[in-house]
Amino acid sequence: MLLALETSCDETALSLVSLDRPISDCAKVEDFLVDELLSSQVKLHQAYGGVVPELAAREHLTNLPVLFNKLLNDNSLDVSQIKVIAVTRGPGLKGSLLVGFCFAKAFAFSRKIPLIPLNHLEGHIFAGLLLEKEKRMEYPCLALVVSGGHTELVYIESFRKYEIVARTMDDAVGEAFDKSATLLGLPYPGGPALAECAQKGIPGKFNFPVGVSNTDRSFSFSGVKTAIARVVKSLGEPLEEQTKNDLAVAIEHCLVQALVAKTEKAIRKYKPKSLLLTGGVAANESLRIELEKLVKKFGIRFSVPPKKWCTDNAVMLGALGSEIYHHYKVNFNSWSAADSLGPEAPLDIDVLARFPIEEIK
Ligand code: KG4
Ligand code: ZN
Repeated sequence: MLLALETSCDETALSLVSLDRPISDCAKVEDFLVDELLSSQVKLHQAYGGVVPELAAREHLTNLPVLFNKLLNDNSLDVSQIKVIAVTRGPGLKGSLLVGFCFAKAFAFSRKIPLIPLNHLEGHIFAGLLLEKEKRMEYPCLALVVSGGHTELVYIESFRKYEIVARTMDDAVGEAFDKSATLLGLPYPGGPALAECAQKGIPGKFNFPVGVSNTDRSFSFSGVKTAIARVVKSLGEPLEEQTKNDLAVAIEHCLVQALVAKTEKAIRKYKPKSLLLTGGVAANESLRIELEKLVKKFGIRFSVPPKKWCTDNAVMLGALGSEIYHHYKVNFNSWSAADSLGPEAPLDIDVLARFPIEEIK
């Protein structure tokens, strides 16, 4: 079995997957996934209105060993049955990453098993395999990865061949949802709360321009926040419930439109076979509906993993780790340090707080 760990932000997550065959050869996720555990810190950070890095790292330190033991006990496993360990190397919060990474290094070193350091964004992309076979991402694929930390449109020509089509120059779209929600006085994390208000809002009462000055290769969401702050100030607080809802629907519309417009341009240019939507913001109903219309127009497949695997989790990393393991198996131990830490490889690589997907070797 392969053990995958995720501690890049505020979720401590572990998964166990079978190494009998890669997930791409399994018809269903259940044929591949043995078990998963996840502990969310959202309640802890709620009081601060955002993730507090030092607290997040401390929580990982407390929770990871407990969850690891629970995983072994729940599955009546002995550590010797874990043959490979995969872990998020970056991008993310350094202190948080270090907890999972050091655990994995120590585990690999003491058990003399290979360690596969992974890119978190690439992990989100491999959530595209966590569906029934006929609904999975299919290459060439266009992936829209949208969360509190990422807004990336990635063209995937074939296995691990990535080209960044567009990424955000400032805030991630989830961050824009969260910050806008805070301006409306909604609780953290604001995205889901704002989406709920938007359902009761009257479209067209307010308008926020987005992406007018954006180039084809970038998103920008920080301007929206300023525009909203100005409108909220001019309306005077406290905002009436209906005004809040009307503002929410306008905010959601402008953020969603910015994503959809660039996705449509990219579909025309790259002509992918499938569109993958992943990351926490994939939970947004309005975004899903708009993208659904788009894929119908172009007659391509729409892959959206279940919500629990769109947000941060370790199953997506298990899928990626297993694909990598099977793909490079032949010369696994002679792999370069950047890609593998086997028993014969150096243990001196470290986490990367910044780790653009195109820097994967
Ligand atoms: O992937 P995720 O759980 O964590 C990372 O940021 O990596 O994504 C969380 C983000 C938050 O910004 C949250 O507000 C946003 O996803 N989100 C939503 C919705 N559900 C979650 N944004 C808009 N509409 C939603 N329904
Ligand atoms: Zn993430």
